[in-house]
Amino acid sequence: MQISDSSSRILAGLLEARTGQQLTMSRRWRIETALSSLLRARKIGTLDELITILVMNKEPGLSEEVVEALLNNETYFFRDRTPFDTLSRQVLPALAVQRASKKRLRIWSAGCSTGQEAYSLAMLFAEEADKWRGWTIDILGTDVSSSVVDRARTGVYSQFEVQRGLAITQTVRWFEECADGWRIAEALRKNVRFQAHNLLEAPPSPGNFDIVLCRNVLLYLCSEKKTVAFDRLASGMAADGYFMLGAGETVIGQTKKLVSDQKTRGLYRLDHRDQSDRRTLAERRAAARA
Ligand SMILES: C[S@@+](CC[C@H](N)C(=O)[O-])C[C@H]1O[C@@H](n2cnc3c(N)ncnc32)[C@H](O)[C@@H]1O
Repeated sequence: MQISDSSSRILAGLLEARTGQQLTMSRRWRIETALSSLLRARKIGTLDELITILVMNKEPGLSEEVVEALLNNETYFFRDRTPFDTLSRQVLPALAVQRASKKRLRIWSAGCSTGQEAYSLAMLFAEEADKWRGWTIDILGTDVSSSVVDRARTGVYSQFEVQRGLAITQTVRWFEECADGWRIAEALRKNVRFQAHNLLEAPPSPGNFDIVLCRNVLLYLCSEKKTVAFDRLASGMAADGYFMLGAGETVIGQTKKLVSDQKTRGLYRLDHRDQSDRRTLAERRAAARA
């Protein structure tokens, strides 16, 4: 199916205006595949016809559906494994000490897609249930797409989806088999909630998250919008909280609010340095000693 340049520009503009995601020329091949089932469901013959309906604003809700279909929702349980190892070996033990008096942790999976990341986090806690007994663990998954948020809330995954990233023992332990596949067990679900949220807007209240994960979400934002998103994410963190990005992503050059953790690769902390003094704490201590 062919799409004219002007139509693909309109779709790219719509996606970027709503979500910040850029559909650069090299990624425009996705349009046809991404919108094919929507066209079938709405009985619209061609992409150019879809654009005409959109531009004339003839069908309420259609532009929302188009944006959601154009988003890349790729995800799976325990994606890229290493960040989850970092969390269970370093971050959670540190937070167990930092929050020992409150016994409460708040975690934000930002750009959570269909929820696998949020439920993987819940499994980390459930697998060490004795250690976290008496704690309140609140895991919030958010996404700009309300259709993926609705799916995440149902917590039902196909055989293919559970096989990606989960050992059979984990599937049997943390899911119940149901007509549509596998349903997340209540023991995990009780700590996880989902809501629609755009990362270009203020963080979900009351903020103050101990851990924020925003993995594989900001890759296609232009530099300016990345800065907005990073600053918003940082403003949702507790002062001594932890931030994680996807493999190959970085905050460097994008925000002044976050800095790499000195000890752990892939982990970021809020930058509490005086913004007019960009030296590290170690550099300032050395200068003070000199
Ligand atoms: C590729 S998925 C990544 C899912 C998960 N974080 C992971 O790493 O497996 C990216 C998700 O980010 C969401 N997203 C894109 N732009 C967003 C925005 N401006 N605000 C919130 N979510 C957004 C998409 O809808 C999509 O579900």
